Amino acid sequence: MKKDPYKVVSLIYNHLMRTITYHDWAKYISDLQTFYFAKAETYLEIAAGSGKLASYLSKIFPNLVLLDLSKSMLLLIDENEKCVCADMTSLPFKSKFNFIFSTFDSINYLENKYELQKYFNEISRILSNDGVFTFDASLEKNSIKNAKRLNRKGKYRGLLYKQISNYDIDKKVHKNRFKVKLGNGEIIEEVHTQKIYDFELYFELAENSGLYVVDCFESFTFEDANSESERIQFIMKKNNA
Ligand SMILES: C[S@@+](CC[C@H](N)C(=O)[O-])C[C@H]1O[C@@H](n2cnc3c(N)ncnc32)[C@H](O)[C@@H]1O
Repeated sequence: MKKDPYKVVSLIYNHLMRTITYHDWAKYISDLQTFYFAKAETYLEIAAGSGKLASYLSKIFPNLVLLDLSKSMLLLIDENEKCVCADMTSLPFKSKFNFIFSTFDSINYLENKYELQKYFNEISRILSNDGVFTFDASLEKNSIKNAKRLNRKGKYRGLLYKQISNYDIDKKVHKNRFKVKLGNGEIIEEVHTQKIYDFELYFELAENSGLYVVDCFESFTFEDANSESERIQFIMKKNNA
């Protein structure tokens, strides 16, 4: 099992994300579900983080299951939710889901295309034949645009924190280094590495796994996206042919 990727950042996560409108994000995911699989009965959120999105969606997605690799993040989730601590490249389910979703660049945490392929293989295995899988992916334009803005520091619940963000255009790797100073003066650090994959690779690897791209939109819209987009919402189904 990989180590907890959000042990340090979980301490300040909800503060860092305070400007994100999870309510609108949940509405978008719910609109996708209504459009692509209104009759879905089984739901899985992958890389659910601190459960912000689920706090809206679990009201409309019955028996929603939340999965994340970080135990520290899962501990932030309301105890009434159904949580599973696991790696998205090795999903611990035998039963199938009708609607699987993942948000906020979580797929970019997969370090290389072999991991990405494993993830799609696992999705294909646990997605029902008529199921829908949707996720957003960050493309290079997003990293180039936002790397500077993500250099920030602040204070939250007595904890001083600093984020240093850098995009390596040759390696196509976006690193965010977080430093948090605890109350006792100790400084703890965590580096988040996100791999920026080419637009076309998602299509290729999905197909290898028996999935296909039904649509891909500019995030939060129903407008077609392309390789020049910043963040893309993919909608995939199983190729049952
Ligand atoms: C940017 S956060 C997004 C969290 C949440 N979806 C949100 O919108 O707030 C990325 C999440 O991916 C999780 N993660 C990273 N690698 C993972 C893996 N291999 N399997 C499952 N979860 C993973 C992290 O623990 C973290 O909670």
